[in-house]
Amino acid sequence: MIYLKTPEQLELMRKAADLLSRTFGEIAKWAVPGTTTRKIDTVAREYMQDHGGIPACLGYGGFPGTVCCEVNEIVVHGFPSQYELRDGDIFGADSVVSLEGFCADMCYTFPIGEVEPKTMELLRTTKESLYKGIEACRPGHRIGDIANAVQTYCEHRGYSVVREMCGHGIGVNMHEEPEVPNYGRRGIGPVIRNGMVICIEPMINLGSRNVVIERDGWTCRTRDRKPSAHYEHTVAIHDDMTEVLTTFDFIAEVMGSRFV
Ligand code: MF3
Ligand code: CO
Repeated sequence: MIYLKTPEQLELMRKAADLLSRTFGEIAKWAVPGTTTRKIDTVAREYMQDHGGIPACLGYGGFPGTVCCEVNEIVVHGFPSQYELRDGDIFGADSVVSLEGFCADMCYTFPIGEVEPKTMELLRTTKESLYKGIEACRPGHRIGDIANAVQTYCEHRGYSVVREMCGHGIGVNMHEEPEVPNYGRRGIGPVIRNGMVICIEPMINLGSRNVVIERDGWTCRTRDRKPSAHYEHTVAIHDDMTEVLTTFDFIAEVMGSRFV
C-alpha cells in the first residue's frame, strides 16, 4: 500500500528533511582524514537529538548506529567504528531522521583528502545519476522510468548498478512502498502520483555489480573490493513538479570548492 501524503504531512516531511540536511552539514565538517566513523556517528546523533529529532537508524532491526558508514568498498549498512578516515578514502554517510512523526532519508559520499581521479569520476557519475532519476520522477510516469534512467546513465559510462538494494517510499516509516530499484525497464512498476514521497538512492560500483554481506549480517561490500558510491534524496511528487525535500546545500557550504 502506497500512502499518499496530505499537504500537512508534507509540511512535516519538509521539516524532517531540513533537519537531516543540516545534520549532513555537520557530518561534512568531520569528513576529513583522521576522523573515526564513530565520531561522525556521534556528531550526527547529537545534532539530531539537540534539534528534537530521533535518529531512526539507531536500533532499527538492531542496527548499531545513527549513520550507515560506507568506506570505499562498503556499499551500504556499514557500522560506525574506530576506523580512522584516510587520505584517498571515499566515505558514504547514509542516515534517517524522524521528526514530529515523519522520516527523511539521505546519503552523500564524501571524498576524503585527495582521491584518485577514476574514483572521483565514479562519485560524480553516481550523483548525476541521482538527478537523472529525479528528472524521470514525474506524475504519470512509472517507477521503472526512474530505475531505467539511473541504470542507463551509469552503465553507459562503464559502471555497474547494485541490484540487491533499492530506494523506497518514506513517511511515518523509513521504508514504505513502493520499492524504487536502480535498474529495470521503462514503463513498468507503479504510476508516480501526486502525494507520493520516495527515496531515490543509486548504489553504483566501479567494478562488477556483485556484492556480499559480511558475517555481521549487515555490512554490504563489493565482491571485488573496488569502490562503490551512493547518493540519496527524499523527493515529493506534486501534480506539476517534483520537490526534492533534502538538499546537499549545507554540505556544499562546508566543502566549498571541493564540492563536486
Ligand atoms: N537509507 C538506508 C536504507 O534505506 C537507511 C538504512 S538505516 C538502517 O536502507 F538502520 F537500516 F541501517
Ligand atoms: Co533509503
